[in-house]
Amino acid sequence: MNLLNDESLLSHDRAHAQADAPLYERLAAHYRRVIASGTLAPGDRMPSVRALMSRHKVSLSTAIQVFRRLEDGGWLQARPRAGYFVRRPAASKLATVAEPDIPVLPEPARYVGLHERISRVIERAQAFPDALNLGGATAGAALYPTERLQSLASRILRHKPTLLTEVGEDGGAAELRQAIAKRALTADVTVAPDDVLITSGGVEAVNLALRAVAQPGDTIAVESPAFFGLLQILESLGLRALEIPTSPTTGLSLEALDIALTACPEIKAVVAVPNLQNPLGCVMPDTRKAELVALCARRGVALIEDEPYRELVEAAQPARPLKSWDRDGGVIHCASLNKALAPGMRLGWMSSGRWHARVRLLKFAQTRHNESLAQFVAAEFIGSGAYDRHLHRLRDKLRVQREASADAIGRYFPAGTRLNLPPGGLLLWVALPDGRSSDALFEAALPHGIRIAPGSIFSNSERFRSFIRLSCPVPFDERMDAALRQLGRLAAGIA
Ligand SMILES: Cc1ncc(COP(=O)(O)O)c(C=O)c1O
Repeated sequence: MNLLNDESLLSHDRAHAQADAPLYERLAAHYRRVIASGTLAPGDRMPSVRALMSRHKVSLSTAIQVFRRLEDGGWLQARPRAGYFVRRPAASKLATVAEPDIPVLPEPARYVGLHERISRVIERAQAFPDALNLGGATAGAALYPTERLQSLASRILRHKPTLLTEVGEDGGAAELRQAIAKRALTADVTVAPDDVLITSGGVEAVNLALRAVAQPGDTIAVESPAFFGLLQILESLGLRALEIPTSPTTGLSLEALDIALTACPEIKAVVAVPNLQNPLGCVMPDTRKAELVALCARRGVALIEDEPYRELVEAAQPARPLKSWDRDGGVIHCASLNKALAPGMRLGWMSSGRWHARVRLLKFAQTRHNESLAQFVAAEFIGSGAYDRHLHRLRDKLRVQREASADAIGRYFPAGTRLNLPPGGLLLWVALPDGRSSDALFEAALPHGIRIAPGSIFSNSERFRSFIRLSCPVPFDERMDAALRQLGRLAAGIA
């Protein structure tokens, strides 16, 4: 089937895209899907403007807007006098990060002793408030729909003037829980609005999940490397971490997890970030996601899915969460709007399967319900077509930023530097050559006005001392280029 000529496919896309999106946006979304699915491969020539006009019965200006939109989003590249071509991803010049070894026996589970190290890194970074922050994990405010959210907030307050003064709903606003449950259907998750609990970001959701399934002293299997915030939570709850090798391409090693679950029957839960793992950026293939859910169910171990980045995955179909394979309520799904929509609103949510009642009780005892205004704003935005349009734009911008940064790293960093280009998000996990210390690079970069995240805070071991996590939070401009050039110079000079 020639997808490009297939009007019925476009009608299908149109039905899926929100009806209120302008025609050029819907057509651009159609061609993004065609490219993401591989029907048009990197280097292929796009149909001409004229072909687009006759194929989709659109005007010249609409066809031109489609091309502009795709070019701005980094999907197409114009070649003078030759037309538009599908862009090749950048940074394939660098070798990829090595796969981890799978040990025959797991390392012993340890209490995390990282809080001081992480706090010191944060404190040092904060001493340079004007530095370009390449150490965070949220995009710059310009990438989020500030004005739209602001006008929604004003309108909602006009209609519900007591929103700031009356007590909110236990468990979260019904409107938001409903919008989240409806959207979950697009990722093959069926969850009732009553099973959704609104939290203060993903961090609170993971906290509650761990408190529901484990007691101080218990062992939790985590990815290695892991998001440092998770390691801080484990430390604060007096839980032990057992680090499981994690592939930079396929995620948590199921082979290593199987070995660990056999050797350590005391493991109470597994925490995994299957979609755009932080810091690796990998997305677990669906077959492995299904196997992970089945493995945890077979062993009777709770599976805590932490996925603040799922909506940032670039793929022809929405990425599936582990929860979509859950058959017996053994998966606690934790998600967040802080990366995809509005870091300032601090909204997250969870659906906790068989631990729902316990989690509700813990949330009530700990913080009561979230503030209402942000929830109403999020409910309206998510429930409208504006959310998908925003996500398309955000993913496109992040892709361009990521590729430009990876390209610059390829140009400026010492020979032997490795990185994987993730299929979404804003994080790059970079391996420095010859065992160079990322702590030394972190310190050396601060006086130059650059913050990075050193690999040492992503594990309780010394395993990642030569890695850095770099984010691409803002459009790639001269400042970003100069910062990466400077980092490359510094990396060449450290031991
Ligand atoms: C894997 C992971 N989980 C949870 C969080 C925290 O999410 P939130 O900001 O929604 O609390 C982050 C933030 O960086 C993260 O990377």
